[in-house]
Amino acid sequence: VADVKGGPDQGLDKLGQSLVITGWVRTLRVQSSVTFVEINDGSCLSNMQCVMDSGAEGYDQVESGSITTGASIWVQGVVVESQGSKQKVELKVNKIVLVGKSDPSFPIQKKRASREFLRTKAHLRPRTNTFGAVARVRNALAYATHKFFQENGFIWVASPIITASDCEGAGEQFCVTTLIPNSHETADSPVDAIPKVNNGLIDWSQDFFGKPAFLTVSGQLNAETYATALSDVYTFGPTFRAENSNTSRHLAEFWMIEPELAFADLNDDMACATAYLQSVVKWGCDLQSEHERYITEEAFGGCPVIIRDYPKDIKAFYMRQNDDGRTVAAMDMLVPKIGELIGGSQREERLEYLEARLDDLKLNKDAYWWYLDLRRYGSVPHAGFGLGFERLVQFATGMDNIRDAIPFPRTPASAEF
Ligand code: 4AD
Ligand code: MG
Repeated sequence: VADVKGGPDQGLDKLGQSLVITGWVRTLRVQSSVTFVEINDGSCLSNMQCVMDSGAEGYDQVESGSITTGASIWVQGVVVESQGSKQKVELKVNKIVLVGKSDPSFPIQKKRASREFLRTKAHLRPRTNTFGAVARVRNALAYATHKFFQENGFIWVASPIITASDCEGAGEQFCVTTLIPNSHETADSPVDAIPKVNNGLIDWSQDFFGKPAFLTVSGQLNAETYATALSDVYTFGPTFRAENSNTSRHLAEFWMIEPELAFADLNDDMACATAYLQSVVKWGCDLQSEHERYITEEAFGGCPVIIRDYPKDIKAFYMRQNDDGRTVAAMDMLVPKIGELIGGSQREERLEYLEARLDDLKLNKDAYWWYLDLRRYGSVPHAGFGLGFERLVQFATGMDNIRDAIPFPRTPASAEF
């Protein structure tokens, strides 16, 4: 359908062509002698209007009511000029085959369903135009992200999902537990392998083959190890936060983009964040009237803003202390409607400062031995940031709720599907 209707002539250049389309029925209008079926094949948001009558092979399936909204079908026909005003061309069908019947309970009907309702149907919501569009924008942003960093000489690094370190020190980690048989001396069934019980309490934090392990909250510490060897690197992968907040901008599982720049300070970090955002959502589009109105009416009030140099006590241990002794070289980028899109900082590269900070916060220095090593062996000024990919998808699409910016949202309320 994209090949036919996507061109500048909206399909008029394809008149007379014979086509086969495979897709899903969006709507069906049966009239006395002719039936209109809108079919979507997933190639674009546009449907193809298919016109069929008793002359089409397989039309009995339409007459018997076997073909309904949601069914998958195969149609063969010829592109003709449309009589309707909504499209330039339509398909005059010669043959129709029902591939997969749709039960009458199919919940995605023509009537617009609410976002809340569609969240309970996460397995079927990609069949709506809105979620088809969000999936496409999400895909384009992922592609543009890799393109931006690759074209600027960054190397993508895979950071681990299972880890022993709590990067943000906020205690928001999910524990990883082994449930395989024989992982404990006494286990002879999977049920027995459920974690050790001490004084009636389950010790969930000791059970990754006998050691503590968690789902990562951030790939930053690992990215720093590669930045202090390869210079400019980035991660792009899933991260997890066990924060029990039901808001329109928090997920328990979200994707994060984390660049880490060597021989760089906070100004370099802010410049990188700005260039990244400009390259993935703004560059190359002509201004539409709504953009002009936005710029003229809401200018500066409605733009992304960077706030820098936060009080050190509200920020993570790894941020570089400023000369005033009270603040750290941190920056957050805030965007309209969403708030924090990016959190970043220059990292503390001085061993004695970092050790003192870990002590202040009563964090276990031994657990960070490898991170401290980076400051022992050829330490360099370096900086980076993390950008929540779903918040970027929200920003680019205008979706109100972050649960609609990821195919299968994980929140305190739900990890279904
Ligand atoms: O500000 P945060 O916690 O920073 C870090 O994790 C640093 N280690 C990043 C770095 O410097 N490499 O998280 C970074 C971003 C936030 O600005 C936000 O966009 C997103 O991650 N984020 C979330 N997105 C969705 N759901 C959540 N629960 C999120 N928590 C953070
Ligand atoms: Mg933050």
